[in-house]
Amino acid sequence: MRKLAIIGGTGVYDPAFLNNTKTTSIKTPYGDAVYTFGTFMDKEIIFMTRHGANHTIPPHKINYRANIYALKMLDVVAIVATTAVGSLNPDMKPGEMVLVDQLLDFTKSREHTFYDGSPLPVAHVDLTEPYCGTLRKMIAEAAKKEKLPLHKKGTYVCTEGPRFETAGEIKMYAQLGGDVVGMTNAPECPLAREAEIAYTTVSLVTNFAAGISPQNLTHSEVVEAMEKNSEQLKKLLQSVMTT
Ligand code: HPA
Repeated sequence: MRKLAIIGGTGVYDPAFLNNTKTTSIKTPYGDAVYTFGTFMDKEIIFMTRHGANHTIPPHKINYRANIYALKMLDVVAIVATTAVGSLNPDMKPGEMVLVDQLLDFTKSREHTFYDGSPLPVAHVDLTEPYCGTLRKMIAEAAKKEKLPLHKKGTYVCTEGPRFETAGEIKMYAQLGGDVVGMTNAPECPLAREAEIAYTTVSLVTNFAAGISPQNLTHSEVVEAMEKNSEQLKKLLQSVMTT
Protein backbone atom coordinates (compact mmCIF):
# COMPACT_ATOMS: atom_id res chain seq x y z
CA MET A 1 0.00 0.00 0.00
CA ARG A 2 1.32 3.47 -0.94
CA LYS A 3 2.26 5.31 2.23
CA LEU A 4 3.18 8.74 3.57
CA ALA A 5 6.27 9.09 5.74
CA ILE A 6 7.07 11.81 8.25
CA ILE A 7 10.76 12.41 8.98
CA GLY A 8 10.96 14.25 12.28
CA GLY A 9 13.93 16.56 12.78
CA THR A 10 15.20 18.22 15.96
CA GLY A 11 12.41 18.44 18.54
CA VAL A 12 10.06 16.09 16.68
CA TYR A 13 10.87 12.70 18.20
CA ASP A 14 7.60 11.44 19.54
CA PRO A 15 5.35 9.26 17.34
CA ALA A 16 2.50 9.72 19.87
CA PHE A 17 0.41 11.52 17.25
CA LEU A 18 0.00 8.10 15.56
CA ASN A 19 -2.07 5.15 16.79
CA ASN A 20 -1.16 1.43 16.95
CA THR A 21 2.54 2.26 16.74
CA LYS A 22 5.29 -0.29 16.39
CA THR A 23 8.97 0.66 16.22
CA THR A 24 11.27 -1.69 14.38
CA SER A 25 14.26 -1.70 12.03
CA ILE A 26 14.79 -2.80 8.46
CA LYS A 27 17.97 -3.91 6.68
CA THR A 28 19.00 -2.02 3.57
CA PRO A 29 22.12 -2.34 1.36
CA TYR A 30 23.36 0.81 3.12
CA GLY A 31 22.78 -0.33 6.71
CA ASP A 32 19.83 -0.65 9.07
CA ALA A 33 17.14 2.00 9.42
CA VAL A 34 14.83 2.41 12.40
CA TYR A 35 11.24 3.46 11.83
CA THR A 36 7.85 3.52 13.52
CA PHE A 37 4.82 2.18 11.75
CA GLY A 38 1.46 3.61 12.85
CA THR A 39 -1.94 4.74 11.71
CA PHE A 40 -3.68 8.09 11.67
CA MET A 41 -7.41 8.09 10.89
CA ASP A 42 -6.98 4.66 9.28
CA LYS A 43 -4.09 5.79 7.06
CA GLU A 44 -0.81 3.91 7.33
CA ILE A 45 2.03 6.28 8.19
CA ILE A 46 5.74 5.67 8.67
CA PHE A 47 7.56 7.90 11.14
CA MET A 48 11.33 8.26 11.29
CA THR A 49 13.37 10.36 13.69
CA ARG A 50 16.32 11.67 11.75
CA HIS A 51 18.61 12.11 14.77
CA GLY A 52 17.40 8.99 16.63
CA ALA A 53 14.83 8.96 19.46
CA ASN A 54 17.25 10.66 21.90
CA HIS A 55 19.02 12.99 19.45
CA THR A 56 22.21 10.93 19.43
CA ILE A 57 23.02 11.07 15.69
CA PRO A 58 24.64 14.34 14.51
CA PRO A 59 23.66 15.72 11.07
CA HIS A 60 26.86 14.58 9.30
CA LYS A 61 26.55 11.02 10.67
CA ILE A 62 22.92 10.36 9.77
CA ASN A 63 22.67 7.40 7.41
CA TYR A 64 20.54 9.28 4.88
CA ARG A 65 20.88 6.55 2.25
CA ALA A 66 19.66 3.81 4.59
CA ASN A 67 16.74 5.97 5.73
CA ILE A 68 15.53 6.87 2.23
CA TYR A 69 16.17 3.38 0.84
CA ALA A 70 14.18 1.91 3.76
CA LEU A 71 11.25 4.22 3.01
CA LYS A 72 11.34 3.07 -0.62
CA MET A 73 11.31 -0.57 0.54
CA LEU A 74 8.29 0.25 2.75
CA ASP A 75 6.26 1.54 -0.25
CA VAL A 76 6.49 5.16 0.80
CA VAL A 77 5.53 7.47 -2.06
CA ALA A 78 5.63 10.81 -0.24
CA ILE A 79 7.79 12.23 2.55
CA VAL A 80 7.02 15.29 4.64
CA ALA A 81 10.10 16.19 6.68
CA THR A 82 10.52 18.71 9.47
CA THR A 83 13.67 20.72 10.11
CA ALA A 84 14.80 23.22 12.70
CA VAL A 85 16.46 26.17 11.01
CA GLY A 86 18.17 29.45 11.74
CA SER A 87 16.89 32.46 9.83
CA LEU A 88 18.89 34.77 7.56
CA ASN A 89 15.80 36.67 6.53
CA PRO A 90 14.45 39.36 8.90
CA ASP A 91 10.90 38.55 7.74
CA MET A 92 11.22 34.90 8.85
CA LYS A 93 11.21 35.09 12.62
CA PRO A 94 11.79 32.53 15.39
CA GLY A 95 8.60 30.51 15.94
CA GLU A 96 7.50 30.82 12.30
CA MET A 97 7.25 28.02 9.74
CA VAL A 98 8.72 28.16 6.24
CA LEU A 99 7.72 25.90 3.33
CA VAL A 100 11.06 26.04 1.57
CA ASP A 101 11.15 25.75 -2.22
CA GLN A 102 14.88 25.85 -3.00
CA LEU A 103 18.04 24.25 -1.67
CA LEU A 104 21.70 25.36 -1.56
CA ASP A 105 23.96 22.44 -0.64
CA PHE A 106 27.16 23.35 1.26
CA THR A 107 27.75 19.93 2.81
CA LYS A 108 31.18 18.33 2.43
CA SER A 109 31.55 14.80 3.72
CA ARG A 110 28.31 12.89 3.26
CA GLU A 111 27.33 9.83 1.25
CA HIS A 112 24.97 11.75 -0.95
CA THR A 113 23.91 9.52 -3.83
CA PHE A 114 22.60 6.05 -4.69
CA TYR A 115 23.99 6.46 -8.22
CA ASP A 116 27.71 6.11 -7.50
CA GLY A 117 28.48 3.51 -10.13
CA SER A 118 28.12 0.40 -7.97
CA PRO A 119 25.76 -1.32 -7.41
CA LEU A 120 23.61 1.27 -9.17
CA PRO A 121 24.88 2.80 -12.44
CA VAL A 122 26.06 6.36 -12.91
CA ALA A 123 23.00 8.60 -13.37
CA HIS A 124 22.13 12.27 -13.00
CA VAL A 125 18.69 13.24 -11.73
CA ASP A 126 17.01 16.59 -12.34
CA LEU A 127 16.71 18.77 -9.23
CA THR A 128 15.54 22.06 -10.75
CA GLU A 129 12.63 22.05 -8.31
CA PRO A 130 14.01 20.07 -5.35
CA TYR A 131 10.76 20.00 -3.34
CA CYS A 132 7.55 18.39 -4.60
CA GLY A 133 5.08 21.02 -5.82
CA THR A 134 2.01 18.88 -5.09
CA LEU A 135 3.05 18.24 -1.48
CA ARG A 136 3.92 21.91 -1.01
CA LYS A 137 0.44 22.88 -2.23
CA MET A 138 -1.15 20.36 0.16
CA ILE A 139 0.82 21.77 3.07
CA ALA A 140 0.04 25.39 2.17
CA GLU A 141 -3.68 24.51 2.00
CA ALA A 142 -3.53 22.65 5.33
CA ALA A 143 -1.85 25.68 6.96
CA LYS A 144 -4.60 27.93 5.60
CA LYS A 145 -7.33 25.59 6.84
CA GLU A 146 -5.77 25.42 10.32
CA LYS A 147 -5.01 29.17 10.30
CA LEU A 148 -1.32 28.50 10.93
CA PRO A 149 1.14 31.15 9.76
CA LEU A 150 3.47 29.77 7.09
CA HIS A 151 5.94 31.47 4.73
CA LYS A 152 5.15 29.85 1.38
CA LYS A 153 8.65 30.10 -0.12
CA GLY A 154 12.22 30.16 1.02
CA THR A 155 15.72 28.97 0.14
CA TYR A 156 17.22 26.41 2.54
CA VAL A 157 21.00 26.53 2.92
CA CYS A 158 22.39 23.20 4.11
CA THR A 159 25.67 23.38 6.01
CA GLU A 160 27.89 20.50 7.12
CA GLY A 161 27.67 21.17 10.86
CA PRO A 162 27.64 20.04 13.53
CA ARG A 163 29.01 23.45 14.50
CA PHE A 164 26.89 26.50 13.86
CA GLU A 165 28.04 28.95 11.20
CA THR A 166 30.35 31.95 11.45
CA ALA A 167 28.87 35.42 11.04
CA GLY A 168 30.87 35.70 7.79
CA GLU A 169 29.39 32.49 6.40
CA ILE A 170 25.88 33.65 7.21
CA LYS A 171 26.53 36.99 5.48
CA MET A 172 27.72 35.09 2.39
CA TYR A 173 24.74 32.68 2.39
CA ALA A 174 22.35 35.65 2.66
CA GLN A 175 24.06 37.34 -0.31
CA LEU A 176 23.66 34.09 -2.28
CA GLY A 177 19.90 34.11 -1.71
CA GLY A 178 19.56 31.89 1.37
CA ASP A 179 16.62 32.49 3.71
CA VAL A 180 17.10 29.77 6.31
CA VAL A 181 20.00 27.55 7.36
CA GLY A 182 19.94 23.98 8.61
CA MET A 183 22.16 20.90 8.53
CA THR A 184 20.08 18.04 7.12
CA ASN A 185 18.11 18.73 3.93
CA ALA A 186 21.13 17.71 1.85
CA PRO A 187 21.42 14.92 1.00
CA GLU A 188 17.99 13.89 2.32
CA CYS A 189 16.05 15.82 -0.32
CA PRO A 190 18.20 14.84 -3.37
CA LEU A 191 18.26 11.18 -2.25
CA ALA A 192 14.45 11.15 -2.13
CA ARG A 193 14.44 12.44 -5.72
CA GLU A 194 16.87 9.69 -6.74
CA ALA A 195 14.57 7.15 -5.08
CA GLU A 196 11.59 8.72 -6.90
CA ILE A 197 9.79 9.57 -3.68
CA ALA A 198 7.97 12.92 -3.52
CA TYR A 199 9.64 15.00 -0.80
CA THR A 200 9.06 18.27 0.97
CA THR A 201 10.16 19.98 4.16
CA VAL A 202 8.49 22.25 6.65
CA SER A 203 11.16 24.29 8.42
CA LEU A 204 10.58 25.81 11.81
CA VAL A 205 12.70 28.86 12.59
CA THR A 206 14.27 28.42 16.01
CA ASN A 207 16.69 31.38 15.98
CA PHE A 208 18.18 34.17 13.94
CA ALA A 209 21.43 32.87 12.44
CA ALA A 210 24.95 33.69 13.64
CA GLY A 211 25.80 37.39 13.49
CA ILE A 212 22.12 38.31 13.11
CA SER A 213 21.19 36.90 16.51
CA PRO A 214 22.25 39.28 19.32
CA GLN A 215 23.76 36.36 21.27
CA ASN A 216 25.91 33.29 20.55
CA LEU A 217 23.95 30.20 19.52
CA THR A 218 23.46 27.06 21.58
CA HIS A 219 21.83 23.74 20.76
CA SER A 220 19.63 24.00 23.85
CA GLU A 221 18.23 27.28 22.52
CA VAL A 222 17.27 25.46 19.30
CA VAL A 223 15.69 22.55 21.22
CA GLU A 224 13.78 24.91 23.54
CA ALA A 225 12.42 26.92 20.61
CA MET A 226 11.36 23.69 18.89
CA GLU A 227 9.60 22.47 22.03
CA LYS A 228 7.79 25.78 22.37
CA ASN A 229 6.57 25.75 18.78
CA SER A 230 6.25 22.07 17.87
CA GLU A 231 2.48 22.07 18.55
CA GLN A 232 1.80 24.12 15.42
CA LEU A 233 4.06 21.79 13.43
CA LYS A 234 2.18 18.73 14.74
CA LYS A 235 -1.17 20.36 13.99
CA LEU A 236 -0.01 21.01 10.45
CA LEU A 237 1.27 17.44 10.00
CA GLN A 238 -2.01 16.00 11.32
CA SER A 239 -3.99 18.14 8.93
CA VAL A 240 -1.77 17.01 6.02
CA MET A 241 -2.21 13.36 7.04
CA THR A 242 -5.99 13.67 6.74
CA THR A 243 -5.85 15.02 3.16
N1 HPA B 1 22.30 26.96 11.81
C1 HPA B 1 22.29 25.69 11.38
N2 HPA B 1 21.36 24.82 11.73
C2 HPA B 1 20.38 25.25 12.56
C3 HPA B 1 20.34 26.56 13.06
C4 HPA B 1 21.35 27.46 12.66
O1 HPA B 1 21.38 28.65 13.05
N3 HPA B 1 19.25 26.64 13.86
C5 HPA B 1 18.66 25.42 13.84
N4 HPA B 1 19.33 24.57 13.06
